[in-house]
Amino acid sequence: MADRRLGVGFIGTGFIGQFHIRSFVGVRDADIMGIFDTDRKTAERAAMMVHKLGVGEPVIHDSITDLVADPAVDAVWINTPNFTRLEVMQEIVDAVTSGKGELVGVCCEKPLGRNVSEARRMLELAGEAGLLDGYLEDQLFSPSVQRGKTIIWDRGAALTGRPFLARSAEEHSGPHMPWFWEGELQGGGVLNDMMCHSVEVARFLLTPPDAPRDILTPMKVTAHTSCLKWQEERYVEHLRKMSDGKLDYANRPAEDYARGVIEYRDDEGRELIVEVTTSWCYVGAGLRLSMELLGPEYSMAINSLDAGPKVFFSRNVTGPVGEDLVEKQNAETGLMPIVSDEESEYGYTGENRHMVQSFLAGRRPSENFSDGLNVTELLMTAYMSAEQGTTITFPPPDLDTFIPAVARGEWNPKEQS
Ligand SMILES: NC(=O)c1ccc[n+]([C@@H]2O[C@H](COP(=O)([O-])OP(=O)(O)OC[C@H]3O[C@@H](n4cnc5c(N)ncnc54)[C@H](O)[C@@H]3O)[C@@H](O)[C@H]2O)c1
Repeated sequence: MADRRLGVGFIGTGFIGQFHIRSFVGVRDADIMGIFDTDRKTAERAAMMVHKLGVGEPVIHDSITDLVADPAVDAVWINTPNFTRLEVMQEIVDAVTSGKGELVGVCCEKPLGRNVSEARRMLELAGEAGLLDGYLEDQLFSPSVQRGKTIIWDRGAALTGRPFLARSAEEHSGPHMPWFWEGELQGGGVLNDMMCHSVEVARFLLTPPDAPRDILTPMKVTAHTSCLKWQEERYVEHLRKMSDGKLDYANRPAEDYARGVIEYRDDEGRELIVEVTTSWCYVGAGLRLSMELLGPEYSMAINSLDAGPKVFFSRNVTGPVGEDLVEKQNAETGLMPIVSDEESEYGYTGENRHMVQSFLAGRRPSENFSDGLNVTELLMTAYMSAEQGTTITFPPPDLDTFIPAVARGEWNPKEQS
């Protein structure tokens, strides 16, 4: 494949699919050549965006099988909701193994599965079809994380010793679609939805450049979850209305706050700590990603809201609400930050460039389904810890079959207190 471009097919072109499309402006050697979305209008809008940006000439297909069978499509990106993971992957694999189509690889958005059993099955299915696999964890590829890690390890760690503490947080004011809020459909609440990023980026920062993942061994996980905001009556009502009555946060909430501590050992037996926090109740300018890396004689700090220019609009500037300044924007007046190139700054451009280059070279991406499975194992252990109110030694014995109470619709902190 090294002498040609990669034809990419998108399965799902909602919020994140469109982020990926915009990021392809910064990806060479690939074109978006096919789209399948169960919502035809969404697919059409996405195809128009692809044309307008000049990042491909996609055919809109009627099924995943048709997309895989399209000779212009060499690899597919799974950008559909969490509850569709296995059915989508199964259809891709069936199309390949039955000879209807040929693919070199598949990428899948986070989380790889709603629980360990699903994530493990995703990994197995990729193996059964002989597909290279990319796990789409954008934050690892953010220029701030990549550059910060390189400089910390090249200078601080090389001269004074490795970093021992990584902190990572992702916060915003709540997801855009009802299915994210439903524990069963999404797999959990904010812990599953956003701590997947924080856990992986913190692990990545503590791992020496180019070292394999297993150089760090998770030893213990301690976590706490709560529903701090969205069980209040007016917010219960807000969620009920935005979901046509389906969401019932009075009786069946998901956690909107989660924190965790993961204790690791490195290959020389040193203790390393990861601290992660996530919430759906942060009402600041918009999405805030923060990371810190601390070592014996140095530290690094990243805050995505500090990244770019700031604007100020007086109260006389009254316009429509939007997301033109920053993802999950909460205001249009006052002092506001602009994240000038979100696709690049959050890591999507670097991530997709890496996936495309890996597939063209016939190489497994550095971030792959095995990593996605490891992340899910850590998240499920965190749920266990929060449910039991205790620190859990990793890996706990029943990890493969564990389904968090929130994903069974059986978690309600109001009833427990
Ligand atoms: N990396 C990140 O920071 C990030 C951010 C947001 C979402 N995500 C992940 O991306 C995935 C999608 O999230 P989203 O925000 O785009 O959701 P969304 O609801 O906005 O979009 C999902 C799209 O998939 C389509 N779809 C649903 N079922 C399908 C199927 N079986 N086949 C084909 N298309 C189907 C829907 O019509 C919709 O257009 C989720 O797994 C989510 O966790 C990742």
